[in-house]
This record gives sequence, structure tokens and C-alpha cells, in this order.
Amino acid sequence: MDKTHRTESSLKELRAQITHLEQRIAALEALQEVTRSFSSKLELKRVLELILSSAIDVMQASAGSLLLHDPATKELVFQVVQGGGGKALRNKRIRSDEGIAGWVFTRRRPVIVHDARSDPRFLNRIDAASKFHTADMVAAPMIYKAKPIGVIEILNKQSGEQFNDDDEDLLMAFAAQSAIVIENARLYQQVITERDRLLAAEEQIRRELARELHDGPSQILAAIIMSLKFLKEVMRRQPERVPEELAELEQLSTRALLQVRNMLFDLRPVLLETHGLYAALQVYGERQFVADGLKIHLDIDALKTRLAPKTEAAVFAIIQEAIGNARKHADANHIWVSAKASSNALTISVRDDGRGFDLGQVEASYAQRGNLGLLTMKERTEICAGKLTIDSQPGKGTTVTLTLPIKPPPPPADLFG
Ligand SMILES: Nc1ncnc2c1ncn2[C@@H]1O[C@H](COP(=O)(O)OP(=O)(O)OP(=O)(O)O)[C@@H](O)[C@H]1O
Ligand SMILES: [Mg+2]
Repeated sequence: MDKTHRTESSLKELRAQITHLEQRIAALEALQEVTRSFSSKLELKRVLELILSSAIDVMQASAGSLLLHDPATKELVFQVVQGGGGKALRNKRIRSDEGIAGWVFTRRRPVIVHDARSDPRFLNRIDAASKFHTADMVAAPMIYKAKPIGVIEILNKQSGEQFNDDDEDLLMAFAAQSAIVIENARLYQQVITERDRLLAAEEQIRRELARELHDGPSQILAAIIMSLKFLKEVMRRQPERVPEELAELEQLSTRALLQVRNMLFDLRPVLLETHGLYAALQVYGERQFVADGLKIHLDIDALKTRLAPKTEAAVFAIIQEAIGNARKHADANHIWVSAKASSNALTISVRDDGRGFDLGQVEASYAQRGNLGLLTMKERTEICAGKLTIDSQPGKGTTVTLTLPIKPPPPPADLFG
């Protein structure tokens, strides 16, 4: 080998190294871009698109797809597809052990496949659906905290060259970073969903409160003002009727106060949301006692364990209605609220020592009565997949019992929920 030849070959090697370094820099820049845009936009779908397009750019490839695992169905879902006839593939699902993507996912290892169509793992139906000819591919698993969450596949270099080990290394680095970005975006989306849910709940409560204020205290106050005017007349003309009128006024004012207090509590669903049934019922019980001296006895340690938010809201509303009914209709002195947990059920009961009623009779005429309490209790029981029984006999008090199945906690929400 003469000197010129040697210089030429080392120059070639150097150029190759420079290209290699440039590629890595470009990859890092692309990753940085993804992370930057992530913090400013934080929208999962967009983040995924950006991750994939950056990977395709960096590898100078023609197409690619990003698949995420759906733990509920054990499938890989084509979340983002770029290049080729990718649109047709979007949201398509394959089994998580199927195809080259499935191989990468289950083995948690990257792979390079030349002449992909002759590889036995290759899924011809995917190429057929996208009308794309996959020749060469490199794929890497996205792993977060030792758990595979998806796969990135990059197809066909634009130059027609084959993917090499450097490409595989690059894609692995890309996939690792992407997994973090995706998990962060998922967490962010969970927070946003939760926030929206709270906002919607608050809006609903505001609307109900406005209606209740209108139908309740504001009408009673109007009646009180009228009665006061009337009282002035009575004082002049029939002073002996004044005590009777005053007693009625006191009753009206007490009703308005009670209604306002109930609303005040409804204004603070935050307590139920943040501290759960146990705390909310403690406060509710104390408040009832202050309002009308009715003693509510709570034996609800079993409710210290938090339930799903929807269930907690439904259970609270059922207990509230049962207590409300005991107060309105039963002329009771005591109400006992108890909660007991067994291995597979939670039993909550509200019992009063009041006058009781004939449930059959009430139910038979329910449609004509225009009441809603018992009906909404039943509807809310369905929301939490529970069972509601009402035991009551005239003169014997009333017991409302709600039984809820206890399920293991649901898996964390994911993209596909
Ligand atoms: N604990 C109870 N003690 C005595 N009677 C009751 C009790 N709970 C319910 N009732 C009777 O059952 C009827 C139906 O109750 P429901 O809660 O559906 O309607 P409401 O309380 O009258 O009106 P709403 O709940 O719609 O404001 C009541 O009107 C009452 O006669
Ligand atoms: Mg009622």
C-alpha cells in the first residue's frame, strides 16, 4: 500500500467517523427538540408524532411507525405512522407478540432486518394495508422503568443502503429517551383529565346551587318579608295573634338556615374529593346536629379506605338522601350510619328510629308523587354496581342498606382509556 493510498483510506475512515458523529449530534438535537416541544406543548399525540418524525429524519429513512402497548388487550397499537401509505395503518392493532414489532416488544431487544419480506416474522398484511414495500428495517423497544411500553420501527433508508449497528444504537438511545417523554406526557394527560373532571363537577354544582337558591332560601326569605309586613298589621289590630305569627316566622327562618347550610356543604365537594367519605361524613354529621339537634351516630371506620371518586360521590349522595329523608319524614331522634367491610363487600347502612313508612305503598304511587329521592338513590346505586335495600314498617323506623362489591384497584389509566 503506497503512501497516497494509505492517506486516502485513513481520510475515508475519518470522514466516516465524522458522519457518524454528525449523525449522533443530529440525533441528540432531535431529541432535545422533542423534549423542548414537550415542555411547551405537552400533548401526547403531538409528542408521539414529533418523536417519530425526528427518528425518521435522523436515520434518513423513508417511513416509520410508533406502536404503543395496550395492556388491557395485550396488543400493540399503531399510534403514529409516517411515510408510505401510513394513514391506513393508524390505530391498527396487532397482538403484542406478533410480527417483528411483537418480537422486539416481547424480547425487549432491538433488531435489524434486511429483506424484511422474506423474514418469517414479517406481517405481510401490514405492508398490504399501507401499500408500502418494506425492504430494510430497524426496530427498538421503548422501555420505561424496566417495563416495555412500545416499539419504534424505522423503514428503508432513503439512500437504499442497509441499516447498520450504528443505526440500531441510535434508535435505542432514541427509544429510551422517548419512553420517558411518553410516560411524562401520559402523566400530564392524566392530570389534565382529572382537572377537567373536577371543573365539570364544580360547574354542575354551581348550576344546581343556583337553582336550589332560587327555589329554596330566596323564596323563603320573600315569604319572611311578607310575613313581617303582615305582622306589623297584626300587632296593631290583633296583638294576641303575634306569638303564633312569630312562631311561624321562626320556623320559616330555621328552614332557610338549614337549606343554606346544606348548600354551603355542597359548595365544598372538595372535602369529599380530597379527603374521602370518612372526613366528609364526619363534617356532615356534626353539621346536622348543629342545625336541628338530631343526633347522627357514625360507625364508619371502614370508609377510611378510599374508593373510586365516582363511587365515593354516589355513596355520599345516597347517605345524604337517606339522612335527609329521616330528617324530613321520620321525626326521628337518632340516626345511625354504619359501614362494615368484608373480604368482598362493603355494607353501608343508614337507620333511623322514626315513624317508618309503607314502602310498597310509596312505590305504588311513586310516579304520581313527583318525588325523586328514592329514585335517585337507586340510580346512584347502579353507578357503583351496588345493591340497595330499604327496610321500613310504620312505627318501626327505617333502615337503608347499600352493599357494594369490593374490587381490586383498577390498573392505572393509559392512553387508550
Ligand atoms: N326515613 C323515612 N322515614 C319515613 N318516611 C320516609 C323515609 N324515607 C322516605 N320516606 C317516605 O317515602 C317517600 C318518598 O321518599 P323520597 O325521598 O323519594 O321523596 P321525598 O323525600 O318526599 O322528596 P325528595 O326526596 O324528592 O325531595 C317520602 O315522601 C316519605 O313519605
Ligand atoms: Mg327524599
